[in-house]
Amino acid sequence: MNKPLQTHADGLVGSTAIVTGASRGFGRAIAKALSSAGAHVVGVARGPSPLDELRDELGDTFTAVAADAADPSTASRLLDEYRPRTLVLCAGAAPQMGPLQDQTWESFSQNWNMDVAQAFHWTRYALRRPLAPESVVIALSSGAAVKGSPLSGGYAGAKATVKFITSYAAMESQRAGLGIDFVSVLPQLTPATDLGAKAAAAYAERQGVDVDTFVTSSGPALSAEQVGKSVLEIAGGARGEHLAYLLTASGLGGLA
Ligand SMILES: NC(=O)c1ccc[n+]([C@@H]2O[C@H](COP(=O)([O-])OP(=O)(O)OC[C@H]3O[C@@H](n4cnc5c(N)ncnc54)[C@H](OP(=O)(O)O)[C@@H]3O)[C@@H](O)[C@H]2O)c1
Repeated sequence: MNKPLQTHADGLVGSTAIVTGASRGFGRAIAKALSSAGAHVVGVARGPSPLDELRDELGDTFTAVAADAADPSTASRLLDEYRPRTLVLCAGAAPQMGPLQDQTWESFSQNWNMDVAQAFHWTRYALRRPLAPESVVIALSSGAAVKGSPLSGGYAGAKATVKFITSYAAMESQRAGLGIDFVSVLPQLTPATDLGAKAAAAYAERQGVDVDTFVTSSGPALSAEQVGKSVLEIAGGARGEHLAYLLTASGLGGLA
């Protein structure tokens, strides 16, 4: 069992958070967790309707922004406008599932054009602006960045690059004395979201088992609510000495 990190979520009351990918899955749970801790959350996704539903649920503490998070102008515009204390880069493309020989360069590279581009543009702008001292940038990488993901094309490599970008930014923040923390979170695969359900189904089929059997073979499934709670822990100041955390149903585990 991983030791829970100590949280000081009080610091979030009245602060502003931007969460990309807030319309469903992990991002939605993260937006709700940050909102429940008193932050004003700006939620970004391309499709406006699910964001409007979340706005109806959370009320005035939530601002919906329909935009492409991989577009550099979205990053610069929203960071200038909202100057967030907490930035969570959670949006990600659902990879096309299939073995290498069935991928095209277009399908193989989609997580580079979305997830890596997003991490690059937002992180670069957070350093150049820079964000205020004591702000934190949390990027969603994946357990696949460590284990690989042979049925997801370029997904695992892209998520490893997201983790590298985050650690490079942490180094630059420290060198320049900016006081901005950069942390990556690597969740284990879970069928609890649209993206994860598609991947779990592909791996279960490859192994010739049903999805439940595949999922429970690696322990209890991670829930979206647990991801929200764990990201809240990090946003609340419980960052310890680690720049990256694996996230399973047992909680956050620091990586070297
Ligand atoms: N689920 C898992 O098992 C798992 C495991 C490890 C890591 N992760 C990572 O966790 C993150 C969240 O995944 P999830 O499972 O919650 O996925 P999800 O349920 O498919 O949700 C993805 C979210 O990202 C948004 N999005 C996608 N492309 C976007 C773009 N170009 N601009 C703005 N928003 C965009 C989607 O909204 P629109 O489509 O409307 O834009 C949606 O809100 C991803 O980075 C994923 O790689 C997931």
